[in-house]
Amino acid sequence: MTTNAQPQLRADNIDEVLKAMTLEEKAKLLVGGANNFFGANAVVGGEADLVAGAAGTSPAIPRLGIPATVLTDGPAGVRINPTRRGTDKTYYATAFPIGSCLASTWNTELVGKVGEAIGNETKEYRCDVILGPGMNLHRNPLCGRNFEYYSEDPLLTGKIAAAYINGVQSQGAGVSAKHFAVNSQETDRTSVDERLSQRAARELYLRGFEIAVRESNPWTIMASYNKINGEFSMGNHDLLTKILRDDWGYKGIVMTDWIGIREGLPTTREVQAGNDLMEPGQPAQVEEIIKGVKEGKLDIKDVDRNVRRMLEYIVKTPSFHKYPASNAPDFKAHAAITRQSACEGIVLLKNNGTLPWKGGIKTVALFGENSYDFLSGGTGSGCVHPPYVVDMLQGLENAGIKSSETLTDIYRKYIAYARVKFQAERHPAKWYQTEMMGQQKYPEISLSPIAIDKEVRTADAAIITIGRQAGEGVDRDIDTEFNLIPEERALITDICNTFHAAGKPVIVIINSGSVIETASWSQYPDAILCAWQPGIEGGNSIADLLTGKVNPSGKLTMTWPIAATDHASTKNFPGQIDFYTFKEMAGNKRPIAGHTYTNHEEDIYVGYRYFDTFQKNVAYPFGFGLSYTTFEYSKPKCYQYIHKNDGVVIQITIKNTGSVAGKEVVQVYVEAPKGRLEKPAQELKAFAKTRELQPGESQILTMTIPVRDLASFDEANSQWITEAGTYTFRIGASSRDIRATVSLALKEYTEKTSNALAPQQKLKLLTQ
Ligand code: BGC
Repeated sequence: MTTNAQPQLRADNIDEVLKAMTLEEKAKLLVGGANNFFGANAVVGGEADLVAGAAGTSPAIPRLGIPATVLTDGPAGVRINPTRRGTDKTYYATAFPIGSCLASTWNTELVGKVGEAIGNETKEYRCDVILGPGMNLHRNPLCGRNFEYYSEDPLLTGKIAAAYINGVQSQGAGVSAKHFAVNSQETDRTSVDERLSQRAARELYLRGFEIAVRESNPWTIMASYNKINGEFSMGNHDLLTKILRDDWGYKGIVMTDWIGIREGLPTTREVQAGNDLMEPGQPAQVEEIIKGVKEGKLDIKDVDRNVRRMLEYIVKTPSFHKYPASNAPDFKAHAAITRQSACEGIVLLKNNGTLPWKGGIKTVALFGENSYDFLSGGTGSGCVHPPYVVDMLQGLENAGIKSSETLTDIYRKYIAYARVKFQAERHPAKWYQTEMMGQQKYPEISLSPIAIDKEVRTADAAIITIGRQAGEGVDRDIDTEFNLIPEERALITDICNTFHAAGKPVIVIINSGSVIETASWSQYPDAILCAWQPGIEGGNSIADLLTGKVNPSGKLTMTWPIAATDHASTKNFPGQIDFYTFKEMAGNKRPIAGHTYTNHEEDIYVGYRYFDTFQKNVAYPFGFGLSYTTFEYSKPKCYQYIHKNDGVVIQITIKNTGSVAGKEVVQVYVEAPKGRLEKPAQELKAFAKTRELQPGESQILTMTIPVRDLASFDEANSQWITEAGTYTFRIGASSRDIRATVSLALKEYTEKTSNALAPQQKLKLLTQ
């Protein structure tokens, strides 16, 4: 019932509700609610217990029929507390494959299905928004959160994110595309100033978000903690209004990352900049907004604009529609989609012909502690509490393959001991090293030659799982997390020597969310499978691939360098230390180095854009991944499709020339003509994945590249420009395996943008 005094919110009376709101109510609506993520209780609104373990809420205003909405992490599944006080009922959620694994499928349709399943669990657990996808670029392999993110390439990031978002939102739940923007390091993430050229920002770090906004209209976007060229993202008018809304036409809400009040950034400035929801809110922020308006420092129009956006968001949510959440998602259906998507995201890096296993492999010696404590996902806010994880042991057993009982006994006992030891010795500052923050990684143990010798006598093959864990709050260490530790090296060489001497194969499974060093040891095993952190069905997915039930079709979405330091960003990762603060830790004051800024000297030369332009050797190139079959690429056709988007159409026929069925990921790299602006040697501009092709079967793939997508960012004129000239379309199976090329002359195309995010200091760039 609507009365003039107290209208009740509906999708068609937002103006009326806005008019009826007091200044206090408006301010309240902009300041987010509960924060039980950090264990604290409600600070505004009292909605903390709506969904235990959810990251936050937007406040309710019952007088006007405005419900609270619930925001939960994300992105690999619903992160809520698995148990609740006063009930035996459990609230486990499916851990889906992590971002890097999902992207490695290069299959937008499949990622859409994963999105649908995640959207469904979000709703069934009485949440409104999942805080994902994570869309930051893999600028450097050491970033602790790379596992949550998709790629070093913005086109792939944007397309995969759009598929995920469309999937989630098709269920009537929302997403929060994060972290907007340039949040490619964890070190000092809340204070660091990311200094970069407007071109690198537009072409790389913002581009994925732009694609996602244009192709999937996310309900919400999360502003990152860091600064960009001197201004916090959360209070950055250039970023949140000029680029996001004026240039890209974004209509949803922006929320802050989880920090509440922050030093040096008034809430009023965040409101002005176009930040609609402060998370997690603090009462003082409500007061600040009210005071700002009363004192004339904050225009009520800015407040009204943001409140309107909040109301537009709220009327879309399950909470508004009083969706009867079941708290019982369909785990069986979601396990199936997890298993399938992991199978397509796992990348076969090496195979000397040993895979797939035929019937000859009946018993396998499983080495490596993560074979028995398989890592389904990463740590921090990106972790999920799943009901189970299928480890390697279980996965092989389900496929009818036996494992060594002695090794199972050794590793199980070790893991039980390591878990206790780890928690007992945990440094108090390492908040992310608890089970509530995700599965932990325990140090690998050595095995004596006698133990290995015993196994070779009974096993038909050996598997060594090399595990790596990483997550929010810290970047990765080169020596212990990127490189192999001595125990792991010894395992690989000793097992390969012993098993090869007996004519038996060795397969290494990489169970890591991020890139690791491979160049120094990849010659030893017969096959290497990068399984990432593939979700709860991990062991089953890997067994499907080992046994040939599924043919691998995943391809890398980032370059695997020979050394971690090979990336051009190394010089400025994680940035410049120029202050020290003292923090109280375990009773002592310890100096903490502060990275106040990170210069993006490498500019647009991130990932393969650097390795390919400067012709550097790599361990595995961007786009690489093996199959059990072979594919033939036909001579491509290319023509320009003249309509309002002026697309370039590439058509190619892919034929399965091998003996088993399989899917191929076809990538189109574009080499631009020499023009006024410098260009990388090549850039990914389109991709497509075939359906499963039977031996001898072909499929015609048609890919359209809007001329706009070929443009570079011209800072001098604040515009996108596709310079006139001949463009070469290089079509291949990876960035270094080009199978066919075709060229086309194009006319100049330009598109004006706002002049935003100009650097405050002169930046020294790689090519200057
Ligand atoms: C993370 C976000 C997360 C939020 C809520 C922050 O610390 O950076 O990714 O969504 O916490 O848990």
